[in-house]
Amino acid sequence: MDKASDERAAALLHHRAQGLSASDPIALPITSSATFYTPDMANLSHIYGRSGMPTWEAVEAQLALLEGAETVAFPSGMAAINAALFAGLGAGKVLMLPSDGYYVSRLLGAHLATYGVKVIEVPTLDMTAADFTGVDVVLIETPSNPGLDVIDIAALCTRAHAAGAMVVADNTTMTPYLQRPLDLGADVVVAADTKAPAGHSDVLFGHVASRDPAFIARVRENRRLTGSVPGAFEAWLLHRGLETLDVRLSRMCDTAGKLAPRLVAHPAVKTLRYPGLATDPSHEIAARQMTGFGFLISFELNDAETAERFLTDCRMIVQSTSFGSTHTSGERRLRWGDKVAPGFIRLSIGCEPAETLWTALQRSLDAL
Ligand SMILES: Cc1ncc(COP(=O)(O)O)c(C=O)c1O
Repeated sequence: MDKASDERAAALLHHRAQGLSASDPIALPITSSATFYTPDMANLSHIYGRSGMPTWEAVEAQLALLEGAETVAFPSGMAAINAALFAGLGAGKVLMLPSDGYYVSRLLGAHLATYGVKVIEVPTLDMTAADFTGVDVVLIETPSNPGLDVIDIAALCTRAHAAGAMVVADNTTMTPYLQRPLDLGADVVVAADTKAPAGHSDVLFGHVASRDPAFIARVRENRRLTGSVPGAFEAWLLHRGLETLDVRLSRMCDTAGKLAPRLVAHPAVKTLRYPGLATDPSHEIAARQMTGFGFLISFELNDAETAERFLTDCRMIVQSTSFGSTHTSGERRLRWGDKVAPGFIRLSIGCEPAETLWTALQRSLDAL
């Protein structure tokens, strides 16, 4: 991470304390109230929980600090993506999205098509050079999930903007510590804080961030009208998780960087992708636009049966979907219909000490 990220990480740890008065609790209270005392309508900071709640506002303030942009919280990453796309689209509008990105975002595209949105799917690697004529919103995911292809965000934004399209970047795999799409020209960031930001596999959460006040107002209004609001306890969990995000990320990225070259050298492993490897096709752009290479590694084993055997045998891999938790997790992505080989595994490196994790991975690979 760079100096600016370090400063944001330090500011985050002192963020709450700066607004405290004497005898206030140091820890964020969970204010779980659906409605607020309104004897009259003057000077009200809160009225009803669908419009605003202190606990999610506290987490929005943290996320705003990290993003350097106004932020609206949602009860999941998909709720955030949905709100951002609704704010940018409508019947007759055109959405371009990655054909190799998170499969539920593609399903959301198909859902939007039933409301009159025209959806164009383009592989991540072809997006920078795509024809944006007539496109209203471009949704990007870089590195793509699960293939880990990386595209040049700044170059894509320049071309998309010239054609009149806005760019929404799903920054879930990187977080604002490792990649800053808004600084690179994207109009909007969407993210699933369910992953590394909350970091403990115990909460779903998402956010939309943008420096365009009119867009953010539309997103906020969408949340109020659809009632897609996070709960106070979920916001509290994310608030707590965010305070250790940079520490966890440092460990996870560091370990991924140590283990990727060892995995690639193992005879059982094929076509490994990790943007931090100098030989990876994503490396050059990743090194330019990311301040860390992330904690996701993807690779193939011979076939589905071999991959399942490895995942079941390795005592340091929790077999589950999702990524970014304290523990290493992994799964075969074909089971979700991703366009990958049967033996393709997405591994999310956790916070285990690197050598202990490597011993377990190596033992199970050797046993294949
Ligand atoms: C890249 C990406 N975006 C969005 C989401 C959706 O997040 P959530 O599960 O919190 O709705 C996911 C979930 O896996 C994801 O991987």
